[in-house]
Amino acid sequence: MILRPSQREQVLPLPVALISTVSHGGIRNVAPWSNITPILRPLNEIVLASWIKRDTLDNIRATEEFVVNIPPASMVGEVMICARNYPPEVDEFEEAGLTPRPSAKVRPPGVDGCLAWMECVLKEEIARENFSLVIGEVIHLEADDRYFNDSGEMDFERAQPLSVMLGWEGMWFTRPVRSGRFAHYAEMAAGRTRVHPDQSTPHPERW
Ligand SMILES: Cc1cc2nc3c(=O)[nH]c(=O)nc-3n(C[C@H](O)[C@H](O)[C@H](O)COP(=O)(O)O)c2cc1C
Repeated sequence: MILRPSQREQVLPLPVALISTVSHGGIRNVAPWSNITPILRPLNEIVLASWIKRDTLDNIRATEEFVVNIPPASMVGEVMICARNYPPEVDEFEEAGLTPRPSAKVRPPGVDGCLAWMECVLKEEIARENFSLVIGEVIHLEADDRYFNDSGEMDFERAQPLSVMLGWEGMWFTRPVRSGRFAHYAEMAAGRTRVHPDQSTPHPERW
């Protein structure tokens, strides 16, 4: 089946984050976000895509700060309340019944009950006619200890971070389930060595 390029939404799972911001006047805002990705290593920068008409974008432009919160699957109801198009003067923490969590280094609070919180400052905005790419630097990253094992790795099945697939009628919220395959990063270095036998990497490349 050949799909239109715009149907990428039907084949590409996207993450679900909640972005919290405050307006210049201090009104708190929360909005779900999926077009968001880390920018390779060392992973201290992320990029998000925003339509022009977003209070989130206005707030980031005004204050140059935002928090990327990672909600567990149990928060999907609140995620969809925050997706509603409230006017900028509405406090979306109150509307969605969310509890603010004081941030360590930025003014916007995080969302209590989330799995992790990335506090970010605006580094760059790449503006197009209808949307903007916002590049943020993560200046503080914190996670809820309860979802991490003794070696400091997230237990994905216990934490249940959300992803989403977009169908014709709406959104299918999904979450990680083990496929049964574990791949060590070193496997990728092995592949590179076969292609370029004279350029083996002492430290496997991670992205
Ligand atoms: C799962 C999900 C993901 C979303 N991802 C984005 C996104 O990547 N970019 C965007 O501009 N809007 C996205 N939206 C829409 C905004 O969350 C929605 O328009 C929201 O009302 C914006 O709020 P704001 O005007 O307070 O910023 C998404 C909505 C949902 C439910």
